[in-house]
Amino acid sequence: MKIALTYNLKEKDETKPADYFSEFDSQETINAIIGAIRNRGHEVHAVNACEANLFTYFKKNMVDMVFNIAEGKSGKFRESEIPAILDYLNIPYTGSNTFSLALALNKAVTKKILKAESIPTPLFQVFSKGSEELDPALKFPIIVKPNCEGSAKGINASNVVNSKDALYEKVKELINMYKQEVLVEEFIHGKELTVGVLENGKVTALPILEIDFAACIKSGEYFYSWRMKEFQGNAELGLVPTFYCPARLDQETEAKVKEIAIRTHQAVGCFDISRTDIRLDKDNVPYVLEINPLPGLDPKESNFPIMAYAAGMKYDELIDAILMSARERYFGKKEISRHN
Ligand SMILES: Nc1ncnc2c1ncn2[C@@H]1O[C@H](COP(=O)(O)OP(=O)(O)OP(=O)(O)O)[C@@H](O)[C@H]1O
Ligand SMILES: [Mg+2]
Repeated sequence: MKIALTYNLKEKDETKPADYFSEFDSQETINAIIGAIRNRGHEVHAVNACEANLFTYFKKNMVDMVFNIAEGKSGKFRESEIPAILDYLNIPYTGSNTFSLALALNKAVTKKILKAESIPTPLFQVFSKGSEELDPALKFPIIVKPNCEGSAKGINASNVVNSKDALYEKVKELINMYKQEVLVEEFIHGKELTVGVLENGKVTALPILEIDFAACIKSGEYFYSWRMKEFQGNAELGLVPTFYCPARLDQETEAKVKEIAIRTHQAVGCFDISRTDIRLDKDNVPYVLEINPLPGLDPKESNFPIMAYAAGMKYDELIDAILMSARERYFGKKEISRHN
């Protein structure tokens, strides 16, 4: 096949906020995906979604399929920008569609759907002005998060609050900083898990990844904060999570967590790949925090490849599985001979 890889590149720009490029991909990730696609005998061209005029590019360069990892430029629908252009041009692409990408980026609306599907998710409330009355049903500690960000942007130790004063201060800070609604939800104490779902012939949950923050005493950050994601492994800063894959769970809990991740993938209408973040409460009830239809694919550092490796897959096989799942969705099992 002739394939284009659409991406947004992580850059260094001192004039931008420290977390500005956090959702974007590194050159190493882009190179790894290109290598994996080439190793399967396909022709692949990398297209920087921020730089190229995609309409002109794809009109000039016909491809069979786009491998899309682009997070989009800005705004609440940014992850849907590239798929919307590709839909308009009638070009097949890997991963979720415009609708599911926009939905999953909106944590509150996703949680409403999860509730309707009887999938447990922490009790929550949305603040758009910052002056709303706090729902008395919500119990402290509460975590305050931007409603439409990823890569834990805007989430640090001070986002977990124990009083109304601290809550309103944080809500206002985040509304000002990220110019969007803020989600407040009950903080779930207990194991942090993330579950990769891959449509590899059938919808499959990969071995569950447990992230243990017990060793992060120096930072005092016992959850996946922005600093934890950005400076993962930095002992000086005390940002040293321990990964267990498969997670240390009894069989019953493991099965329940996997089932919930698959149901979340399906409820949000994801395709090919997703990663669902879950916290267990003290009774081992899995609470879904959110779903990521564009999970990081850094071959060394990202959560999703770690789970694929634990399932016995190589990086090339993971990338090929995503590609083949998309190909089957668009073309069935037949060979593609449009452009090669
Ligand atoms: N209700 C909660 N209870 C406990 N911890 C939470 C809760 N919500 C968020 N967290 C912690 O904050 C982290 C980041 O939150 P969340 O996954 O909602 O944000 P994100 O920016 O979308 O993350 P990602 O980097 O996966 O895109 C979680 O992985 C978890 O460690
Ligand atoms: Mg998350």
